[in-house]
Amino acid sequence: MSDLIRIRPPGDKSLTHRALILGAIGSGVSTIKQLLVAEDTRSLASALRKLGVSVSALGTQVPVQVRGVGFDGLQAPSTPLDCGNSGTAARLLIGLLAGSNVTAEITGDDSLRGRPMRRVLDPLRRMGAEFEERAGDGLPIVVRGRKLVHADHEMSVPSAQVKSALLLAALVSRSAVSVRERIQTRDHTERLLAALGVPVRTSDGVVSMEPVQAIPHFTFTVPGDPSSAAFLIAATVLTRGRPVMVEGVGINPTRSAFIDVLRNMGAQIDVRQVDAVLGEPVGDILVEPSPLSAVEVTADIVPWLIDEIPILAVLASRARGRTAFRGVGELRVKECDRLAALHENLRSIGGDAVVDGDDLLIRGRDTPYSGVVDTRLDHRIAMAFATLNASERVDLELSEHRSPRISYPDFFSDLQRVVGRG
Ligand code: S3P
Repeated sequence: MSDLIRIRPPGDKSLTHRALILGAIGSGVSTIKQLLVAEDTRSLASALRKLGVSVSALGTQVPVQVRGVGFDGLQAPSTPLDCGNSGTAARLLIGLLAGSNVTAEITGDDSLRGRPMRRVLDPLRRMGAEFEERAGDGLPIVVRGRKLVHADHEMSVPSAQVKSALLLAALVSRSAVSVRERIQTRDHTERLLAALGVPVRTSDGVVSMEPVQAIPHFTFTVPGDPSSAAFLIAATVLTRGRPVMVEGVGINPTRSAFIDVLRNMGAQIDVRQVDAVLGEPVGDILVEPSPLSAVEVTADIVPWLIDEIPILAVLASRARGRTAFRGVGELRVKECDRLAALHENLRSIGGDAVVDGDDLLIRGRDTPYSGVVDTRLDHRIAMAFATLNASERVDLELSEHRSPRISYPDFFSDLQRVVGRG
């Protein structure tokens, strides 16, 4: 295929967060290559530095070195740990610190301060964790780290952040833990821990972990982020341009339902596994432009594509028929109320979208779309509508172009490359 465009998305955000944290509490110096360098991961790196961990400057050209301090070596920070916009940083740090021996205040930007934290605090309290809530269910929160005890948890909401917080809390506290999930969420923490020799296993919907005294340092090349790749894949499908090969993408099955849904909509996508790193499969994804038809996205797979719903909703707005996203109420507590943001923006540009309880229903149209999109400063809302805007018969003005820096700083130039203008 001579006119094939090849492109590599930035490093995976979920895996970068986990690698930085596990490196910080490992024994010795860990090396992390091709990690995500963006606002969210910078927030976590600076929080770890405030906890006394040496983390070299984040960059993609030079490997990042994290000098692990072990489970007992974190130091109490003198100022609050500001997690910026990053829910993953905040919730994973709450877990980590709850089981450590330091006290620290965790805060974030306006969006993050309003996001629910009791979903993490409540199960951690069952392990003996101590918190001081400063603002109801949100941030800031003071975590008073202490030795925790074993607990068996049943997750009330499907959330990989909560599951990971519980695993990290138990890990540094050297206690056993089990977490039952009704719907499996992304399993990156389990895979990385297992690759580092921690006895963690999943069976019949229960993740259980036995205590260890320490974890080793490691070298990790972070796979490309499938959630970022999703915008490039969608742009290829929407703009009907040249075929695109998105290379080096994480294809962990708990993250790749977006591909399955898109295939069910009629897209031509081939995935070939090329590698595996610390238990994470990596692949190349070949996408060829194709017309789309509506599908039904059932609630049981929503955790596997939760971050891709904004871009899937945009694709549905150009698919033949009515697409239903069932049970997507969790979207209300993301970086913004994504359910409202999708519904209102699609309607205001001329689309057909309805919210019915926790369901989002979108009927595709082929009429022109135009108008102003209020991104609500949410990176994925901005990138979803910018992707739509790159296709024909669409003329949108985004309220801002800054938010993609949160997870995908090169988004606009990569989008231009994929649609053949870069
Ligand atoms: C993430 C889990 C998901 C996801 C977020 C990253 C993670 O959040 O939306 O972008 O890295 O564990 P929830 O755990 O709240 O579903």
